[in-house]
Amino acid sequence: MSLSVVHSIADLQKQVGAWKAKGLTCAIVPTMGALHEGHLRLVEQGLEVADRVLATIFVNPKQFAAHEDLGRYPRDEEADLAKLAAAGTHLVFMPTPQIMYPPGFASAVHLGGPAKAGLEDKFRPQFFDGVATVVAKLFICSGADYAMFGEKDYQQLKVVTRLAADLNISIKVVGVATEREEDGLAMSSRNRYLSKAERNQATAIYKNLMQAAEKIRQGAKPQSATRAAARSLTTLGFKVDYVTARNAESLGVPQDETEPLRLIAAAWLGKTRLIDNIPV
Ligand code: PAJ
Repeated sequence: MSLSVVHSIADLQKQVGAWKAKGLTCAIVPTMGALHEGHLRLVEQGLEVADRVLATIFVNPKQFAAHEDLGRYPRDEEADLAKLAAAGTHLVFMPTPQIMYPPGFASAVHLGGPAKAGLEDKFRPQFFDGVATVVAKLFICSGADYAMFGEKDYQQLKVVTRLAADLNISIKVVGVATEREEDGLAMSSRNRYLSKAERNQATAIYKNLMQAAEKIRQGAKPQSATRAAARSLTTLGFKVDYVTARNAESLGVPQDETEPLRLIAAAWLGKTRLIDNIPV
């Protein structure tokens, strides 16, 4: 089946409504474009769980602070559509900011819980309200049955799961494992900002997280293992925002040794901010 592209919410609802009328289920894959293999993995997994896959491409201004990279966020619509078509996507929703936020738009979704875990929210205070506002709109106006989100943005995955539950949006959020480059660097649209030297260095985040996880499995205290990882990254020239062990579900600071752990990191390499996380 060929790829259809819609821009208006009415056209989106018409298409998904036609699938629903035939009894077909739909998985939504929200993205900001500049697509790579990680995004396409979400499409593949969407095709596993649902009959139809709807991808969305929208660089959401509400989740960028004034000083962040909204203006220089990479955009490549033509290549994105070719990649989505090749991956088997059925429909792409590509709204403009005016369609998502028409004049007079005045509402926002504000979350606590995992959105206030002191991770990304500490360094990007407006970020999750912006994400939650656009994701709530996408969930509600698409009426999708499943939503595919990457574990790469682990806090975001937990936030949108909470959002759907709290607002009684009947959609199942599905987490998809992080797709990595051969040397372990998590794929990201922002990796293209890295210089050659930085790109070679960037894999150190994953390697240090792996080493910390191994130390914890061998009995080290989680916070001492992650502190060592942070020190090692700093020595290598990263500016570390955080490297921490959190409860894999609540994202709270672990209180006892039986909790499932997730090691989560964010660090700058030059002008590029990289994030990654792994289970223990
Ligand atoms: P974006 O950064 O484009 O990511 C879209 C989706 O792709 C997210 O669910 C993200 O976790 C997933 N993803 C990115 N890199 C991945 C990788 N290496 N492996 C697996 N999945 C990966 O996240 C956003 O856009 C936005 O915040 C959005 C949810 C679209 C709201 O604007």
